[in-house]
Amino acid sequence: MAKVGIFYGSSTGNTEFIAEKIKKYLDMENVELFNVDSTEKNDIENCDYLILGTSTWGVGDMQDDWDDFAEIFKDVDLSGKKVALFGLGDQEVYAESFLDGMGHLYNLIKEKTIVVGHWPTTGYRFENSVAVRKNKFVGLAIDQDNEASKSDERIKKWVEELKKEFK
Ligand SMILES: Cc1cc2nc3c(=O)[nH]c(=O)nc-3n(C[C@H](O)[C@H](O)[C@H](O)COP(=O)(O)O)c2cc1C
Repeated sequence: MAKVGIFYGSSTGNTEFIAEKIKKYLDMENVELFNVDSTEKNDIENCDYLILGTSTWGVGDMQDDWDDFAEIFKDVDLSGKKVALFGLGDQEVYAESFLDGMGHLYNLIKEKTIVVGHWPTTGYRFENSVAVRKNKFVGLAIDQDNEASKSDERIKKWVEELKKEFK
């Protein structure tokens, strides 16, 4: 049975909270959550489908645990897998670096695998983001600081698209 791994890095718990919701709405049999603060190369390689989530810290940095994991992650074999990304950020205070962490994560993997689950930028207000390619976010965009009430609806819609890819 195909295995889905949801890998997240989270400093204050928001990304972890969203990762749990993604798992719930995916409602598939073989889905496991991994915090990248204690993830090994094998955990990733054992999954067929990957969902990778990071928040953004500093000004436009990937969440710390992803930063630490990035060295190991560079050597992970992603061939034959499909990967989807989600990112958390604050579009009001950090409008110039909104979700940049997700963009950096995308840059780490874009040459090595197929990235699915791109997401429209309509409905968000920000100035700049490393996470935008061809007028879309490279993955699901979540803003728990300003638009937490929209998150469930966004996740449900995104997950429906993923389910078509993950089969
Ligand atoms: C000091 C600080 C710096 C931040 N920098 C950014 C940023 O550059 N871009 C952004 O979109 N969000 C930024 N954020 C917002 C966080 O990414 C957001 O609060 C996120 O939900 C945190 O998720 P976590 O608890 O899973 O780490 C920042 C927040 C803080 C407190």
